[in-house]
Amino acid sequence: METFDSLTYEKEVYKPSKETVKNSYVDNYDRLYEYSIKENEKFWDEIAKQLNWFKHYDKVLDASDPPFYKWFTGGKTNIVYNALDRHVTTFRKNKLALIWEGEDGCERVYTYFSLYKEVNKFANVLKSFGVKKGDTVTIYLPNIPEIAISMLACAKIGAIHSVVYAGFSAFALRDRISDAQSKLLITADGAYRGGKVIELKKIADEALTRTPIVQTVIVVKRTGKDVAIDTSRDFYYDELMKLPIANAYLKTEEMDSEDPLFILYTSGTTGKPKGILHVHGGYSVGTYITSKYVFNINDNDTYWCAADPGWITGHSYIIYGPLINGATTVMVEGSPYYPYPDRWWKIVEKHGVNIFYTSPTAIRGIMRFGENWPNRHNLSSLKILGSVGEPINPEVWRWYHKHIGKERCPIMDTWWQTESGMFLITPVPSLPLKPGSCGKPFFGIDADIFDESGKSVEAGKGGYLVIKKPWPAMMRTIYKDEDRYKKTYFSKFNDVYLAGDAAKRDKDGYFYVMGRIDDVIKVSGYRLGTAEIESAIITHEAVAESAVIGKPHDIKGNSIKAFVVLKPNIEKSDTLMDDIRSNVGKTLGPIAKPDEIEFVDSLPKTRSGKIMRRVLKARDIGIDEGDISTIEED
Ligand code: WT7
Repeated sequence: METFDSLTYEKEVYKPSKETVKNSYVDNYDRLYEYSIKENEKFWDEIAKQLNWFKHYDKVLDASDPPFYKWFTGGKTNIVYNALDRHVTTFRKNKLALIWEGEDGCERVYTYFSLYKEVNKFANVLKSFGVKKGDTVTIYLPNIPEIAISMLACAKIGAIHSVVYAGFSAFALRDRISDAQSKLLITADGAYRGGKVIELKKIADEALTRTPIVQTVIVVKRTGKDVAIDTSRDFYYDELMKLPIANAYLKTEEMDSEDPLFILYTSGTTGKPKGILHVHGGYSVGTYITSKYVFNINDNDTYWCAADPGWITGHSYIIYGPLINGATTVMVEGSPYYPYPDRWWKIVEKHGVNIFYTSPTAIRGIMRFGENWPNRHNLSSLKILGSVGEPINPEVWRWYHKHIGKERCPIMDTWWQTESGMFLITPVPSLPLKPGSCGKPFFGIDADIFDESGKSVEAGKGGYLVIKKPWPAMMRTIYKDEDRYKKTYFSKFNDVYLAGDAAKRDKDGYFYVMGRIDDVIKVSGYRLGTAEIESAIITHEAVAESAVIGKPHDIKGNSIKAFVVLKPNIEKSDTLMDDIRSNVGKTLGPIAKPDEIEFVDSLPKTRSGKIMRRVLKARDIGIDEGDISTIEED
């Protein structure tokens, strides 16, 4: 792998101010880190004790059957017990838990007590439809408070939620419902994005024609537009919430620490998305302490993570982590540029946001419009900034630091994954920062970079990013596919977690993530599998075969290029190209639409018939194709 000796920016260091260090929960990274690794279980035990347990656990870590680790065994808890129930008996009862801004300018707020009651009501509704502990419920909702209420209501009664991002289309939704075998789906009439309406119910109906398993659909009214209703199956959320059954009190189900909390599907190397499974106990502990130490959330802070709840970032850092900390969390629907590219800064000013967390792709998108847009607003409330999803280019980091953070706010570049549940490598506010680096491992996280043979590489050299000790919020398995879990993450280096990223470390121990090593493409921070996009492309009747690659892109990080082989006697045309693109949008989702399509007569393959994407990529950017002796071009 490439060496990075030529990089000079690692020498650029931003020291925290005295005030930042003084106000930090963690004022000395090295000391706590050393302790957390040496006394790993003791460290996690001390953190876990800060949460509420119906019954205290017997054991911190059960590592008797690696890589199937169990945490806090014998304990009884529920994430809702920590995220809501424990706050409503304290001074936080009437504190704002959630502030929501709709794209159309409407605003809704919930106190801890009102959110608690909404969740109880909806949990009672779900129960009345027969949803029980261990059942799965699929949630296909936009960025509205009901997504948080639905997730928390499922968790409350011990049902497993499976949220499907509202930007995904019928094909993706259908696959995820079938894999999870959900009998109940929660969706909305529509969603707003960039001034347009996305007809979610219509997409859901299309997915459901091929998933007879779903017996009940609960529809949240968001746009208020008329949608088709099948009276034997579909019910409006607001009508259900008015029924006597929607009682505002319900006892929270006492769950084992290791009982499943949610499944979240993510893309991998093959076309079939992986159902990443997380559990109540360890995930509560991990999201709690990372939110607290990395964002330094205090009771008088307003915290805003501008992600979508449909991805892990939203699960862990819009909903669960902040609520467990008793914070006020902000949720915003719609696009950052609509109606104007200062929408976000307007919201920061309006709510006096103190902690702001977003992605490099959003910052790059906003940077295009220049600093006059943020400069028009009073951003003095901001104390800490965050970044997630892909590497943040140093020049983007500096812009964010200067024009948003006014050279006052440290930037937490948090590296983690759907699988990890919580931050794994990240700075804390008291750690000096280097633009382009995601800092150092979080407490208790034993991160390393291996070469092909499983040896730790020296500073400056690239290698495989691995984690050598289990951590509480790690996924427990791939839903119904333990073999794939073992094979994907723990087989290359025996029982060591393989993250799927290439990385290097500098001589000060700072990590730099270089990108994915598998067939996963990060497009605007969204994770997509090449095989998944290819399957969507070939659903078009004119297409025989296709191969997809990622190409560097200034704003999106990567763009999607598809090579397409048409069926015999089909004419190549621009109209056909557009049609193939929009078909991908309709089946998989708009984010998966190829930016570029090239019609080719054949695809380079190995003798065993595997498409050589590496060769296509090399040809596309005009570099040496490497060893292609095994290619057969038929
Ligand atoms: C992949 C995981 C974790 C929430 C959002 C993405 C990339 C994530 C960073 C970062 C460099 C990053 C990695 C990782 N990634 N954060 N701070 N710096 N790369 O979750 O969809 O599961 O994707 O996102 O490639 O493996 P995800």
